[in-house]
Amino acid sequence: MEVLILPDAEAVAEAAADRIAKLVAGKPDAVLGVATGSSPLLAYAALARRVRTGTLNLSRIQAFALDEYVGLSPGHPQSYAATLRRDFAEPLGLEPHQVAVPDGNAADPAWACAAFERALRDAGGVDLQLLGIGANGHVGFNEPTSSLTSRTRLKTLATQTREDNARFFTDSQQVPFHCLTQGLGTILDARSLMLVAQGAGKAQAVAAAVEGPLTAMVPASILQLHPHTTILLDEAASSRLTLSAYYRHTAANRPGVATDVGLPDVQAAG
Ligand code: GLP
Repeated sequence: MEVLILPDAEAVAEAAADRIAKLVAGKPDAVLGVATGSSPLLAYAALARRVRTGTLNLSRIQAFALDEYVGLSPGHPQSYAATLRRDFAEPLGLEPHQVAVPDGNAADPAWACAAFERALRDAGGVDLQLLGIGANGHVGFNEPTSSLTSRTRLKTLATQTREDNARFFTDSQQVPFHCLTQGLGTILDARSLMLVAQGAGKAQAVAAAVEGPLTAMVPASILQLHPHTTILLDEAASSRLTLSAYYRHTAANRPGVATDVGLPDVQAAG
């Protein structure tokens, strides 16, 4: 696991954009896993700047969302389909067909989840999965006690998640109770994982995910199971880590060993 502690949220965003740009330079038809929420927004803005200046071409990538609310139409401004269109696809100049989102409006959610898993497989799997982390340690919408081997499925949102996400809705009653989310097993199938977190509000969840035990109570602790995981943190989000001196030391003394999937900046494999 590579843990990088960066001065601020903008540096986190640039580091995330660097890694995505490097991946796409080596593999123009890369498959990106994309997250919603506030955490990746600055990274998307950094990527959009590179697309605008012509230093990055994303015209051949394919993107897959982590999750979607159940019961919001794709046109609802807070659906993840609309959010990704607004914050990711349009600024990055992607065509709608380049971004796949689970169908939270399907009459048969189990079928929609299976169709999403099939689409991921047919695309050849995710090269790099970008992740945020919930204050309760969730990734995607895998709430505490999610099975560590789960696949895309219907989940009930935790009360804390509904409260946290109420800020995006006009009224907290509007926050859906259910979602479709990639499972933890689905996320682990990605060839590399990159988690971004900013702010003191994430410090506890980050520490539990990176340094705590592997447990379904902290779904993000599955990152420990993946051999190619990068964690990009600002100072505040790193403030509860006990080994931050080690992470800073390894970042400053990179062995220069290239690992796979176009992420040659990592400290060392595993
Ligand atoms: C949301 C999303 C996650 C996201 C997390 C953190 O509800 N389903 O994919 O990473 O919660 O959100 P934020 O980045 O807004 O703190």
